[in-house]
Amino acid sequence: MSSPNQITPANIGAYFFMEKLSPQNVNEGFCCFIEEYNEYLLRDALRSHTDHVALTWVLRERDGGKIAAYMALIADAIKLSFSEKELHNLDYPFKTIPAMKIAKLAVSAVFREKFSGIGTSMIFAAHCIARSCNDHYFAARFLTVDADIEHDEGVLSFYQKTGFLQNAELYNKNRKTISMRLDLYS
Ligand SMILES: CC(C)(COP(=O)(O)OP(=O)(O)OC[C@H]1O[C@@H](n2cnc3c(N)ncnc32)[C@H](O)[C@@H]1OP(=O)(O)O)[C@@H](O)C(=O)NCCC(=O)NCCS
Repeated sequence: MSSPNQITPANIGAYFFMEKLSPQNVNEGFCCFIEEYNEYLLRDALRSHTDHVALTWVLRERDGGKIAAYMALIADAIKLSFSEKELHNLDYPFKTIPAMKIAKLAVSAVFREKFSGIGTSMIFAAHCIARSCNDHYFAARFLTVDADIEHDEGVLSFYQKTGFLQNAELYNKNRKTISMRLDLYS
């Protein structure tokens, strides 16, 4: 089997483009082997957009138009301990810091076979969107995620490799997910 092409933020535009999910571009063929994530894209993503609870971005291939990956973004806020705030040079009396959350992220299994780096490039795209919000609309210091270790413990390592740190304050006490943050301005 040939080794997958490496996708980076510099070359991703040659293969793919990003757009918001719309009724015209929902694609039934998306499969990432975790049924919950396939179902979300097919059944819930558009409704969540209409209800203003999550906005889904899809990465589509230039040849053929298939959805290679998607992410759902929402506004967020995280509570940081004194030492965590110190780590990020945040000298403020309040615990809660504004953030933007990647509520869902999935890469199609077919595209993962052909390309590596798509997931990392999606994180980079979320990073760019959050920075653009900071420049023009509202403040968000961190990118956050609840790493879904219930389905795959490896996602913790994926997020660590893309620069996320585990939060000391655990929001999800049942440990099906691990709350993580990435400083957009470190
Ligand atoms: C997690 C996911 C988004 C990663 O996407 P991807 O395109 O495979 O990621 P990348 O190719 O950018 O991988 C970056 C690095 O993370 C590692 N990595 C990626 N997914 C991993 C996993 N599931 N387990 C362990 N390591 C993983 C890669 O090996 C690579 O390491 P390297 O730089 O040392 O070579 C993808 O596997 C996926 O869609 N999984 C199913 C849905 C899911 O679990 N989403 C996350 C929910 S919070």
